[in-house]
Amino acid sequence: MMENLDLLAPVWTHVTTMQPVRGEGVYLYDENDERYIDFTSGIGVTNTGHCHPKVVRAIQEQAEKLLFGQVNIVIPHTTTALAEALNRITPSPIDTFFFSNSGAEAVEGAIKLARHATGKPNIIVFQGGFHGRTSGAMALTTAKTVYRVGYQPLPAGVFVAPYPYSYYYGWDEEATTEFCMKQLDLILHTQTAPDETAAVLIEPVLGEGGYVPAPIEFLKQLR
Ligand SMILES: Cc1ncc(COP(=O)(O)O)c(C=O)c1O
Repeated sequence: MMENLDLLAPVWTHVTTMQPVRGEGVYLYDENDERYIDFTSGIGVTNTGHCHPKVVRAIQEQAEKLLFGQVNIVIPHTTTALAEALNRITPSPIDTFFFSNSGAEAVEGAIKLARHATGKPNIIVFQGGFHGRTSGAMALTTAKTVYRVGYQPLPAGVFVAPYPYSYYYGWDEEATTEFCMKQLDLILHTQTAPDETAAVLIEPVLGEGGYVPAPIEFLKQLR
C-alpha cells in the first residue's frame, strides 16, 4: 500500500516508490516479501550490505550501554577508540580526528579547517562536483543546477576548474590532463592567487557529475 508521500518535503526526489521493510546483504524486501537487488547500495554507502550481522550486533550492544554521550560534556570510550583505530590506518601527518553526522557536515568541517589553518579565504573545486546540500557545500557543488536553483547567491570564495573528463572532451587521458592542469594554472593566475587559495577540493571519482574516475596522472600532478 502506497503511503501518503505528500507529507514528505518535495525537496526529496524519489528514484523509485519502493518501500522496503527489511534488508539483507544486497537485497531489499517490501511488505509483500517481494525481493529487490539494491544496485544503488544506498547511494554507495552500504559497503557491508544491508543489515550485516556484525554491524547489527555492534549497534544493539552499544544501544544497550549508551545511546548519547555528548562529546563537549563527556568523552565516551567509543569516541577515543574510533580515533585510535583511524590513527593506525591514516597516513602521517593526519593524527587528530573530528566526527560528523553527514557528508555535507564533513565537507563544511574540512573547508573551515583549511581556511582556519591557512588564513586564506578561497577554495578551488571541479566542474561537476557534488559536495552536499548545506549552504557552504552547495556553493562547492556544480553537478546540476537543481542543487542551487532558488538558493543563490551562495557563499563566495569558490572557483571552478574543469574536471579531467576525457570522454566528455573526446581526448585521451594525457591530453585531458595537460588541458585541465593548464586551466587550473590559469585560474591561479587570473581568479584566485595561490596566496589566497586555502584548498583544492576534488572527488577522485566524480560521483553525481557522471561517475568519472580522474586520470591517476592528473591526481599526481594536482598533489
Ligand atoms: C562526494 C560526496 N560528498 C558529499 C556528499 C554529501 O553527503 P550527505 O548527503 O551525507 O550530506 C555526498 C552525498 O552523496 C557525496 O557523494
